[in-house]
Amino acid sequence: MSTEEKVIVFDTTLRDGEQAAGTRLGVREKLELAMQLARLGVDVIEAGFPISSPQDFEAVQLIAQQVAGPTICGLSRAVDKDIDSAGAALKKAKKARIHTGLGISDIHIASKFKDEKYGKTLKDKKEKAMDMGIKAVKRAKRYTDDVEFYCEDSGRADKEYLYKVIEAVIDAGATTVNIPDTTGYSIPEQFGQLIADIFKRVPNARKAIISVHCHDDLGMSVANTLAGVRNGARQIECTINGVGERAGNASLEESVMAIRTRKDFFGLDTKINTKELYKTSRMVSEMLGILVPPNKAIIGANAFAHSSGIHVDGFLKNPLTYEIIRPEDVGSPKSVVVLTARTGRHGLKHRLAELGYKVSEAELEPLYQRFLDIADKKTEVFDEDIAALVGDERRTIEHVYELVYLHVACGTGTLPTASVKIKTKGKDAPTTAAACGDGPVDAAYEAIRIATGQSPKLDLYTIKAVTGGKEALGEANVKVIDKNGVRFTGRGISTDIIEASAKAYVDAINRMVAEK
Ligand code: KIV
Ligand code: ZN
Repeated sequence: MSTEEKVIVFDTTLRDGEQAAGTRLGVREKLELAMQLARLGVDVIEAGFPISSPQDFEAVQLIAQQVAGPTICGLSRAVDKDIDSAGAALKKAKKARIHTGLGISDIHIASKFKDEKYGKTLKDKKEKAMDMGIKAVKRAKRYTDDVEFYCEDSGRADKEYLYKVIEAVIDAGATTVNIPDTTGYSIPEQFGQLIADIFKRVPNARKAIISVHCHDDLGMSVANTLAGVRNGARQIECTINGVGERAGNASLEESVMAIRTRKDFFGLDTKINTKELYKTSRMVSEMLGILVPPNKAIIGANAFAHSSGIHVDGFLKNPLTYEIIRPEDVGSPKSVVVLTARTGRHGLKHRLAELGYKVSEAELEPLYQRFLDIADKKTEVFDEDIAALVGDERRTIEHVYELVYLHVACGTGTLPTASVKIKTKGKDAPTTAAACGDGPVDAAYEAIRIATGQSPKLDLYTIKAVTGGKEALGEANVKVIDKNGVRFTGRGISTDIIEASAKAYVDAINRMVAEK
């Protein structure tokens, strides 16, 4: 464990994260995820909002009973019945926290406390809100010493008022004060300054932990979180994959890995076991049904994928040229070179070696040209494509016939027809032929028979996709029988299955002719 000062990691995937539109977790799922969060090493799990529904109450209660290690936290508004509900749900927790609070920006106070019972003027309402906050902290203290107070919408609040609220709730017993940028409105410099100003202007600020809770409406939640930490905040509130209300919350994996990777800058660390990040991310994605974008930092499918020739070349010489994190440090599958049309010969040769193929320089060039043909048609070339390519290239026999042109017309209500051009060894001009058939493959085979003058009987025909997706390579295999009853096999691959079928038939004919 490093000796740097620790930043407390407060995970709110089960509460704010689950507020993401269109998601709902069952009680058992929440428990399973809480157990994984404990393995990940978060310090606090905000397990839910117990008053909000009987299921949320049950989930918080179950997690409080069964999940050891982190502090278990329940959310409440600054209302007695909420706080009592959170207190009851957390009763069995070894370490319990109540997270209570209210909106403190003018817009929140004026809009939420419209009723005159909260006062006539905005000033009166603000006083009343502060009083409610103090009372809420005191009530939460009946259940646990560990009370966190949230000053909702701090990012847009009247700063002088915010300072007073913070001072008052710390005096009332709050051990952590949460400064949420609820609407994701802040700019990093500004948010960092807010945290710095809190330490300057609130006399008792150092008696509590100052926490930051940032939303991603302008895509700056992680930057704001880090600006907060840089200016003295020692708790970060995050969700796995950045899921959450609207555009979501600061992503835990990004915030934690920024602090870990740039220890030189922050001089801080967390207790997170980062090797569990990838697994936790996939669990959350699956449970919430929210896919992780491939380009997502740290845990996206492409986070450790290299594709362009220059990058692949550099990465293969030394991974540190293009990677600042080792995939194993976040539990991610190892770095990959994604083979595309931009990969280059070096990348292809490296992958061939990884797959166990020793190819000479002479063999590499034709393979690379065929690889480029496939890569142009498909976005990504898979290992199975490469294996099929090598197999095809190595079936070395003398090719008397070569299919140089194929056109097939077929469809509902039309007679399938095919025209081919076959180049015959030793002849300058290719032979052209056209034919009809029962289907496009049958028509192509008939045209090949006419063009080559060879007509072995088709005994067996199979076609399969070598890889997945609509641009998969198709592999056709055929068995033909010559007039003496001898069988020959043929194989063809292409992204076009009719072309793969035609190539397989020509291959079988070539083998038959070569044998003779
Ligand atoms: O974004 C927010 O302000 C919140 C509070 C309830 C902490 O989620
Ligand atoms: Zn929030």
